[in-house]
Amino acid sequence: MNPIKHVAVIMDGNGRWGISHKGSRNLGHREGLNTVEVIIEECIKEKIKYLTLYTFSTENWKRPKKEIKYLFILLENFLLKRIDELIEKNIKLRFIGELNKLPSTLKNLIKLSEEKTSQNTAVQVNIALNYGSKNELINALKMINKKNITINEKNIDKNLFTNSIPNPDLMIRTGNTQRLSNFMLWQLAYTEIFFEKKLWPDFKKKDFRKILSKFISIKRNFGSI
Ligand code: IPE
Ligand code: IPE
Ligand code: MG
Repeated sequence: MNPIKHVAVIMDGNGRWGISHKGSRNLGHREGLNTVEVIIEECIKEKIKYLTLYTFSTENWKRPKKEIKYLFILLENFLLKRIDELIEKNIKLRFIGELNKLPSTLKNLIKLSEEKTSQNTAVQVNIALNYGSKNELINALKMINKKNITINEKNIDKNLFTNSIPNPDLMIRTGNTQRLSNFMLWQLAYTEIFFEKKLWPDFKKKDFRKILSKFISIKRNFGSI
């Protein structure tokens, strides 16, 4: 059995890539999509069942309107143009985050793509969109309170956006920055974390494979010896 069930990724460095290639930050976002496709393919090949991609954080609303709009349009176009291909490749999409705050065209497309891919089984790609771990935890605690159930690990797990998704075995952050930026603070409690110097658009198949093989060699203790 594959010891890697779930890989989570903070796809950082697009903006810097765009600027350093004599373009705009948005050029980097567009280029970053190629890496997304490569990594999804690799997960399918490696029989990794869950891939979570941090796409837009609750803090990313602080960015210029133009950049935010571009990011949403990029995602909309991807969902519009590629949905048949995703179905053909047996890829399941799930979106995690505070989705009700998103523009309605995007919300409709999200619903549609989740529905259309719901039966697929090769890999489940979780798109973290308007996702913030603190927001997620507050939300979960409010639900627990409303349902009048006990606060315990199981009930918190069940009421997070990530309910029914196993915790990540490994998390990769590209872009030469060593922080979590409000990503899966609860779920990463025992995850192996890899900080990668390369910017997301420069992150290639061989870089991903290198990290997977490093992961395999790690002895995970989970507190034991
Ligand atoms: C990550 O790349 C993608 C998003 C946050 C949408 P950045 O846009 O943060 O790129 P840098 O870190 O500024 O280079
Ligand atoms: C984290 O990257 C969010 C995503 C990749 C979607 P940021 O670029 O927003 O993180 P900070 O602000 O540098 O911590
Ligand atoms: Mg960044």
